[in-house]
Order: sequence, then structure tokens, then C-alpha cells
Amino acid sequence: MAFLAFEGLDGSGKSTLIKNLKLHLEKASIDYISTREPGGTELGEELRKIILKDQKPPPCAKTELLLYEAIRAQHVEQKIKPLLSEGKWVISDRFTASSIAFQAGGRNIAEKDIVWLNNFATGDLKPNLTILLDISYEESQKRMTNTNRDEKDRIEKESAQFHRAVRKSYLEQAENNPQWLVLNACESEQNLTDKLISHLKFKGFLE
Ligand code: TYD
Repeated sequence: MAFLAFEGLDGSGKSTLIKNLKLHLEKASIDYISTREPGGTELGEELRKIILKDQKPPPCAKTELLLYEAIRAQHVEQKIKPLLSEGKWVISDRFTASSIAFQAGGRNIAEKDIVWLNNFATGDLKPNLTILLDISYEESQKRMTNTNRDEKDRIEKESAQFHRAVRKSYLEQAENNPQWLVLNACESEQNLTDKLISHLKFKGFLE
């Protein structure tokens, strides 16, 4: 059993790395569920649409944070905890670190308040490993314009300054949590997958 959270700016390549990890787990006959935030449950997916919709006026920063936390509380209670207790691996595309990066880094809400809300929403459940795909704002933008993506959502439309602050917060979180795995998102897909698998072996999650 392992609970892994993938983090990074939009366009950092989380989906590709998750896809490659899933292939590896399938080959090793490991039972896993892959999920995401915002989302992960029926209620969470409904709230995801509301949170990401371009709307005027936009939700104020505190409302936005509380919506992400509401989604998280439901996600943990209804899905993540039961799956972990069945011994399954849970792979989440974003988790608590996103709220610190985007709502403290990006929106300037006090980090201590978000840490408290994260703990409240999760009942103190922490991922066994958080994997940060680190990428510069410029590179992430290049990737998002080069690939065939849906129209940008409300958060993706935020300024360069916002996204630089998000990246800075991620790197600070990684510095304060030496157990995080930080990968350079500009490395090749194969290198990133190999590094992740070696790390999971080194930590004893995989044989
Ligand atoms: P994501 O699903 O990664 O977007 P996409 O599918 O378009 O790649 O996440 C949606 C957005 O929500 C993303 O810009 C990050 C933001 N977000 C927060 O601001 N706070 C949070 O707590 C979470 C989980 C996500």
C-alpha cells in the first residue's frame, strides 16, 4: 500500500508520469486507483466544474480555498481512506500541497491557516510520498501552447507573477520536507519514469 501525490504547475507533465507509473504497477500486478483533486468523487467533480469555471465575479480567495478543502474532505473520507485500508495504492494528481502552493503562494492566504485546514480536511492523512515535477513558468506556458489542450481554466489564466509564486512555494515546501521527491520536469519522459521507479524501490514501496 502507498499513497502518492503528484504536484507541479499546470503543464509540468504529471499526467504522463502518472500514466507511466500506472503501466509499471500493472506489470507488477499491484492494485492501484488513480484519482485527482479537485475532483475524485461525484460531489468533488461537480465542485471542480464550479471552481474552475471562468466567472465574474470570481470566487474570493477564501471561498476558493474552502471549496478545494471541501472537495478534499469528501475525497479522503469517501475514497482515499477506504482504498488505503483495503491495501490498494492511491495515486492522486494533486493533494494538500497544491492548496499551499496556489492559495498561500498564489493568493497570499496565510500558510498556517491552510496547513490547519488541510489537516482538518484530511484528518491528518499525509501522502507517503509527494512527487514534485518542477518546471519554470516559461517552460510550462510553452508546453501548454504547443499541446492540444482544452481552453485554459480560471487558474491557468492567472498571471506570470501568480504562477511564479506558486512554483516558489512548491520549492520551499520541498526544501522543508526532505522526504519529497523533486524531479526536473524538463528531463526526458524515460528518465523521469526511471527516477521515480528507482526512488520507489529505494523507499521500499516496490521490489
Ligand atoms: P488540475 O486538475 O491539475 O488542472 P488540469 O486538469 O487543467 O491540468 O488542477 C486544476 C487547477 O486547480 C490547477 O490550476 C491547480 C488548482 N488547484 C488549486 O489552486 N488548489 C488546490 O488545492 C488544488 C487541488 C488545485
